[in-house]
Amino acid sequence: MAAGYVVAVVGATGAAGSTTLKILAERKFPVRELRCYASERSAGKTVSFMGDELRVEKVGPEAFKGVEIAFFSAGSAQSKEYAPLAVRAGGVVVDKSSAFRMDPTVPLVVPEINPHAAEGHSGIVASPNCTTVVTVMPLKPLHDAARLRRVIATSYQAVSGAGVKGVEELRRQALAWARGEALKVEYFPHQIAFNLIPHIDRFADNGYTEEELKLIHEIRKILELPDLKISPTTVRVPVFTAHSIAVNVETDEPLTPARARDLFADFPGLRVWDDPGQNRYPMPVGVEGQDDCFVGRIRADLSLANGLNFWVVGDQLRKGAATNAVQIAELLIREGGVPNG
Ligand code: A2P
Repeated sequence: MAAGYVVAVVGATGAAGSTTLKILAERKFPVRELRCYASERSAGKTVSFMGDELRVEKVGPEAFKGVEIAFFSAGSAQSKEYAPLAVRAGGVVVDKSSAFRMDPTVPLVVPEINPHAAEGHSGIVASPNCTTVVTVMPLKPLHDAARLRRVIATSYQAVSGAGVKGVEELRRQALAWARGEALKVEYFPHQIAFNLIPHIDRFADNGYTEEELKLIHEIRKILELPDLKISPTTVRVPVFTAHSIAVNVETDEPLTPARARDLFADFPGLRVWDDPGQNRYPMPVGVEGQDDCFVGRIRADLSLANGLNFWVVGDQLRKGAATNAVQIAELLIREGGVPNG
């Protein structure tokens, strides 16, 4: 039998799914056979993978026979319906949706931070929300060195985080503006071109958005700090790709900016771009297309004894979604957690 795994990508025509195909190829993931699924709208379309054009099929209950690893990024409802079928068919699921993230029986994994959590999974491993991934990466080395007491995080989130329709809406509105035409609002709750929208996902009863609540609950689960104080605000911005987060932390132990810079630089998956004299700091333009998360503007919080401010930017389609999911699958293979052949 040929080496490698039978892999399925559910949501292969979407922003995260098409990036998953790219990352599988870039990282030379051991694929023996690749099946691409989406809704019936896309059945018969093709997607490219390593020089081949692969036909997209409508996902259905029979899709997972023989599939060993399935990547899901077709939304929560589709994950709830089909991920258990993929597991029943004998495969493991790496799920990018929010369907199972807070299920206590499902590990929520960022491989650089909590690879141990993936051990003993029951068929589904969840990959966090894209803003969670980019925010939690720099929090881990700070916590290990000085113990986090409180985190305040304000996000600047790209439109591709809302899928291909978000990208199309920003492009359409920007073109209409350039032509002097009226801007049509079809997808986001307000105009996104030349605007900021402090509203991502539904509002909960307490005035927070679901996106903000995800940030709180998912960071606590990944860091295994159920009582960590986190105060989030999430904002959609007219940027195509890469999420940026302004983070303020208070720690138990003092931490100088120089020490924090060293901790970030030594942590796998993080890179420091922090040279204000040269106007050097991370920005979405420049980070797009990269797998690492980039930290800059590292400085003491002048209002607090053990406080630190920094700015982190990550390509949310890559590390925030597809790269993290593929890293999880690589981790499962290394640990023997994927049935093969
Ligand atoms: P389709 O292109 O056929 O609509 P994005 O996050 O970029 O919006 O992408 C969402 C992905 O999830 C797309 O691949 C989309 O397929 C897929 N998808 C959405 N709804 C369904 C569904 N009901 N069944 C299967 N796939 C779906």
